[in-house]
Amino acid sequence: MKEMTSLERFLTACEGGTPDRVPFWIMRQVGRYDPDFEGMVRKYGFDGICKDAKKAAQLSLMPIRKFGFDAIILLSDILFPAEAMGLKLEWTKEGPVFRNPVKGMGDVEKLRSPDVGKDLPYVQETVNILYNKVGGKIPIIGFCGGAFTIATYMTMHTEFSGVGNLRRMLYANPRTAHSLFRKINDVLIELIKAQIDAGAHAGMVFDSLAGYLTPRLYKEFVLPYQERILREVKKHDVPSILYLTGCCGILNKMVNVGADVLGIDSKTDIGDVKKRVGKSVALQGNLDPYTLFGSRKSIEVAVRECIRKAAPDGGYIFNTGEGLVKDVKFESVAETVAAVKKYGKYPVTH
Ligand code: CP3
Repeated sequence: MKEMTSLERFLTACEGGTPDRVPFWIMRQVGRYDPDFEGMVRKYGFDGICKDAKKAAQLSLMPIRKFGFDAIILLSDILFPAEAMGLKLEWTKEGPVFRNPVKGMGDVEKLRSPDVGKDLPYVQETVNILYNKVGGKIPIIGFCGGAFTIATYMTMHTEFSGVGNLRRMLYANPRTAHSLFRKINDVLIELIKAQIDAGAHAGMVFDSLAGYLTPRLYKEFVLPYQERILREVKKHDVPSILYLTGCCGILNKMVNVGADVLGIDSKTDIGDVKKRVGKSVALQGNLDPYTLFGSRKSIEVAVRECIRKAAPDGGYIFNTGEGLVKDVKFESVAETVAAVKKYGKYPVTH
C-alpha cells in the first residue's frame, strides 16, 4: 500500500477503515518526560506556555518532530474554560486548584458566560498557527473537557478532595448540578466550535472522571451533555473522540453517545471492548502508561498485545489508556514508538 500522510492515516482509522499502518499519538505527549518541556514550564509556568499561542504551538509540535506522532494534541488544559467562567485557578505542584469553588446554586448563578474568542483567545490562535504550519499533513486534535470532569474540579472544597462533593450534589441538589453542567457545556460547545473553525481535524472530549458514576447517574447527568458536544463536532463534519476512564460499566451507553472513536482506559481489556462494540465505533488506547517504567522488551510485548487485540480489522488508533506520568524516561517514549511502528503495519497478523 502507498504510504499515507499522518492526516490520511488518522482519518481513515477514525472512520473505521484500515490505513497503511496503525496511527499513534499519546495522551500528554507534550509533557514532563521531555527536558525541553520541563525547561519551558520552569521559565514561563504551565499557565504561561498554554496562554501564549506561539509557545503553545511550538510545544505542541515538539513531540511530532522528535517522535513522528501521527496527531497533534493542542497544548492547553480542560480547566481554562472554568477560569474564564470566573473561578480563580491556581497551578500548584500537586495540580490545579480553584480558590473559590462552587458550593451551591448561588455560586452557579454567579458564573460568567465567557466569550470564547475574547476570554480564551489563545486556544483558537494556537490551532491557527498549527494549521498554517502543518494542517494539510498532520491532524490537529482540538479538545475540551466534559462538563462532569470540569465540574468535579470546580466543586472541590478542599484541595484534591476528588469527585465526592459533586457526587453528593447529584443526589442532594440535582437541579443545581444540572444548572452547573448546562452552563459549562454551553462554553465547551463554543470552545470546540472555535477550534474546528480554526482548522482542527477532530474534536475530543476528555470526560476522564465520568466513569466514577453508576450507569443510571451517567445516563442522567453525563450522557446528555456529552451527546450535545459530540453532535456539535459532527455538525462540522470532523470525527469526534470521547475519552473517559472506567468505561466498562457504561460501555453499552457510550457506544451510542454519537462518538466516532472511543478512548479506552488501561483498566479495561481492549480485546473485550472490541468484541462488545465490533465495528460500530473505532477505538483508541489503551496501553498502561506505567508500562513505560518497564524494560524495552516488556514495552514491546505490551504494545504488541494492544495492537493484536484492537487493530487487525482497522478502526484503531494506538494510544495510552491514561496520560503519560511524571518521571517516565524520554528513551521509553522512543521505545514505545518504535514498537508501534514495528508491529503496527497492516495487515496485522501477529
Ligand atoms: O494530552 C495532552 O498533553 C494535551 C493537553 C492536555 C493537558 N491536560 C496538558 C497538561 C489535556 C488534554 C489535559 C486534560 C486534563 N487536564 C484532564 C483530563 C485528562 C486526564 O489527564 O485525566 C484533567 C483532569 C486535567 C486537569 C489537570 N491538568 C491536572 C489534574 C493536572 C496536574 C496533574 C497532571 O496530570 O499532570 C494538569 C496539569 C497538566 N495538564 C500538565 C499538562 C502537560 C502538566 C503541567 C506541568 O508539568 O506542570
